[in-house]
This record gives sequence, structure tokens and C-alpha cells, in this order.
Amino acid sequence: APDISVANVQAHLAQLNTIASQNGGNRRTGTAGYSQSLAYVKAKLVAAGYQVSEQTCGSCTYGGNNLIADWQGGPADQVTMFGAHLDGVSAGPGINDNGSGSSVLLETALVLAQQNPTMTRHVRFAWWTGEEQGLQGSQYYVSQLGSTQRSAIKGYYNFDMVGSPNAGYFINNVNSATSAPMKAYWDSLNLQPEENVEGQGRSDDASFQSAGIPTSGYAAGASATKTANQAAKWGGTAGRAYDSCYHSACDTTSNINATVLDRSADGVAYTLWKTSVGSGPVPS
Ligand code: PHE
Ligand code: CA
Ligand code: ZN
Ligand code: ZN
Ligand code: ZN
Repeated sequence: APDISVANVQAHLAQLNTIASQNGGNRRTGTAGYSQSLAYVKAKLVAAGYQVSEQTCGSCTYGGNNLIADWQGGPADQVTMFGAHLDGVSAGPGINDNGSGSSVLLETALVLAQQNPTMTRHVRFAWWTGEEQGLQGSQYYVSQLGSTQRSAIKGYYNFDMVGSPNAGYFINNVNSATSAPMKAYWDSLNLQPEENVEGQGRSDDASFQSAGIPTSGYAAGASATKTANQAAKWGGTAGRAYDSCYHSACDTTSNINATVLDRSADGVAYTLWKTSVGSGPVPS
């Protein structure tokens, strides 16, 4: 699988930070900061050759669309999905939460398009609206799936806060078959990932899990406190939050640990290739 450039991921984060700065300091759903974030991601995907659509959320508190991008190829009844919420809270620019997951997925999508390998599964990316109002965009998306479409989705991988400055290495449903490639990648770096207990039911994977779709994902932690044991194996500071700028004005580009961001991005690419890329050339 390709090595994703963390510098390219950081460049997307810088753009999202600028968008927030120019629009009252945030990217909340229903604001210009959100629609400009969506326009930024969408333009890159369109230029790369994705089939992109916006879905208006019929059950969301604020206006602001989901963005769905399909990469051509692979069987339509065997779909792997990767998603991240693109919206933030009104308190700040939302760079770790969740510019990080949004930018990791965008860069992975662009690399997939560049490499254009033979696909064994169809890959779909999603950037969700209204997560901060209660997983609204992803819930709406799942509610609109017909039973055939729903059963075609063999796995949903979620990325919410993957650049936390005092990082942990958490995986949703860490011991599931769906998590195996995500875990294998972090195991290969001797990271000893743990279950994402803090994030249980709190991000868009819950919308898919409720519909019976297998889910996984990475997270580097929110406002919960790093333990001594975790600091011993992962570094960072015990007794402090994984992200002390969670839902705050200080969630800027300074609020990102580039190491965990890179390890997340590379693990996404590893998982995408492992689940969905076939016998075509797989560059290293
Ligand atoms: N879904 C939460 C949010 O966007 C983030 C979160 C993730 C919180 C994991 C806790 C654990 O605010
Ligand atoms: Ca990398
Ligand atoms: Zn949040
Ligand atoms: Zn979040
Ligand atoms: Zn790397």
C-alpha cells in the first residue's frame, strides 16, 4: 500500500484552518465555514476523477450537505466505505475534530486516484454534515439506503480526531474481523492499540453499526485522560487529556500531532488496499 504524505494531509488542514479564520472562526454545519470546507474537498475529488454527489440532509438541524465520493471499479455489491465528519463546533476551527479525519480521507482518496489500481471491492468515501448535532448526517445517509444498498456495504471505517496532540492509539471494535487490517498496521509499528472506549457510540460509525453494518476506525482520543500505562507505551503526558483543546478555540493547526496523523493516514491506505485492491500493481 502507498505511504501517504503527512505533509499533504497537513496542507489540507491548513486550508481548513484558513477557511475557519475567514468565516468567523469555525466550520459549523449551516455556516459558510462548512460550505467552503465542502467545496474545498469536493473540488479536489472532482479534479481527481471521482464521481461526487452532495446529499441534502432531510433530518438535520442546520442546512449543510453530506459529500459522497465513489471511485470507479470493483463490484457494486461489495462496497468498502470510509467516512469522517467534516463539520465542527462553533467554538473553534475544528482542526483535530475533525479536520484531521477529513484530511486523511481526502489525501488517501487522491492517492487512490493517482495509483488507479485494480479494485476487488468498490470504494466509497463520505464526509458527513451535522455530526456535532448528534450524528445527523450519517444517520440520514443510512436511513436512505435501500436494503440492497445497505447489505452491499461490507465495512464502514470511521475517522474522528486522528491527530490528537497527546495521542492515544484507539480502534473501534479493535478485535473484530473488520478491524483486522487497521490493527495489523498499528501492530506492525508496535503500538499496542486499545479499544476506543471513549468514542463508543459518539461518532458516525454508530449510525452504521445500528444498521447492522460492520464498523471500525481509528481515533487518537478526545477529552479523556491519558493513563500512566498509556504514556509508558505511547509517550506523551499521563494525567492530561488526549486533546485539551477538544471543542475549543485552540483546536487549530497547532493542535495536531503529526506522528499520529501520519500513522493514521498510512493505516487507512493499508486498510483500503488490504480490503479493496486486487491483483493490479500495488506500489509501495
Ligand atoms: N464524536 C465526538 C465529537 O465529534 C468526538 C469524540 C470522539 C468524542 C471520540 C469522544 C470520543 O465531538
Ligand atoms: Ca506516511
Ligand atoms: Zn466534536
Ligand atoms: Zn468529532
Ligand atoms: Zn509513515
